[in-house]
Amino acid sequence: MGEFKPLVFSGVQPTGNLHLGNYLGAIRKFVALQENNDCMYCVVDLHALTAQLVHDDMPGQIRSITAAFLAAGIDPKQHIVFNQSQVPQHSELAWIFNCVARLGWMNRMTQFKDKAGKDREQASLGLYAYPSLMAADILVYRATHVPVGEDQKQHLELTRDIAMKFNIDFMDKIRPTGLGIDITVGEEPVHAYFPMVEPLIDGPAPRVMSLKDGTKKMSKSDPSDLSRINLMDDADAISRKIRKAKTDPDALPSEVDGLKGRPEADNLVGIFAALADKTKAEVLGEFGGQQFSVFKPALVDLSIEVLAPINAEMRRLMADPSYIDSVLRDGGARARERAEKTMNEVRDIIGFVR
Ligand code: TRP
Repeated sequence: MGEFKPLVFSGVQPTGNLHLGNYLGAIRKFVALQENNDCMYCVVDLHALTAQLVHDDMPGQIRSITAAFLAAGIDPKQHIVFNQSQVPQHSELAWIFNCVARLGWMNRMTQFKDKAGKDREQASLGLYAYPSLMAADILVYRATHVPVGEDQKQHLELTRDIAMKFNIDFMDKIRPTGLGIDITVGEEPVHAYFPMVEPLIDGPAPRVMSLKDGTKKMSKSDPSDLSRINLMDDADAISRKIRKAKTDPDALPSEVDGLKGRPEADNLVGIFAALADKTKAEVLGEFGGQQFSVFKPALVDLSIEVLAPINAEMRRLMADPSYIDSVLRDGGARARERAEKTMNEVRDIIGFVR
C-alpha cells in the first residue's frame, strides 16, 4: 500500500481584475498552504482562450495574476509559479485525456452549460474540453490536493473519473513499469499511476458577495465597479466602495442568526470576519447593536490595513514586468522538468515509441 507524495496545485485564469473574493477565496488559501506543502500555482492562460479568443492585453493579464500571487506572499523560489502555456505537456496530456473522458461525462458539466448559453452550436470545442485540460494541469504533476472554489468541485470529480479510468484501463501496462502505486478507492484496490485528487474547498474562505447586491457573488464581470473591491484599488477607492455599499437601515444583530434575511449585512460582516481572521460571531460580539455608520468605517480601516500592502506590492511589481517574466520563466522551466518526467512515463505506459 503506497501513497502519492502530497503536492498542491491550483490555477487562476488571467481574465479580468482580481478582486477581494478571489483574494479571500483562493489566493489567501494558496499562501497558507505553502507553509507545509510543495505547491504549484499556475496562471492558466490556455484556459483563458475558452472565454474569449483574442485578448486586449494578454501579457498584462498574465503578469497581474502573477504579481497578485507574489504580492500576497507566495514564495516563487520555494514553490513554483508559472503560466500554463510555458509547459506544453499540459496540452499533450489533455489530448490523451480527451481520449479517456466520455462524451456523457462532459455533457454533465454545469459550467459548460452555463457558459455556452442557449446557442451551444456556437461554443468552441475548447470550452467543451476545458475540464479535460484542467485535469491535465493537475495530473501532469500527479498533484494530490487542489484548493478551489465550490464552483470547481464538479471539474475535480471529473479529474478523478479520468484518473480512475486511465488507471483501470492501463492497469496491466502500469504494473510492469513499477511506476504505479497500490491505493484503495472506496473499497476498491487499484494499482494507480494517477492519484485521486482531493479538493480543498472548505476553510476560512467566505463567499464574498457583491457590495451592491448581497445575493449575487462578487464578480469581475459585474458591470458596476462599485460592486467589488479590486486588488488594484487604492485606499481611496476601497473607502468609497465600502461607504457606498448597500445596507439595510437596522443596527447589526448580536447573534449570527440575526443576519438571516439580511444578505448585505451578512456579506459585510463576513468580509470583516475573513479579513480579521475571526468568526462572524466574534465580529457581532464586538459590533452587535451598532449602526452601519460605526461598522463601515471600521471595515474601511481593516480593509485598507490588509489590502494596502498587497496593493502597493502589486503596483511595484507591475512596474517591472521583466522581473515578473523572469519568475514565470524560471517557474516554467522547473514545471516543465516535472511534467516531462510524467509524460515520458505516460508515453511508456501507453506504448508510444520514443
Ligand atoms: N477552472 C479553474 C477556475 O476557473 C481554473 C483552473 C484551471 C484550475 N486549471 C486548474 C484550478 C487546475 C485548479 C486546478 O477557477
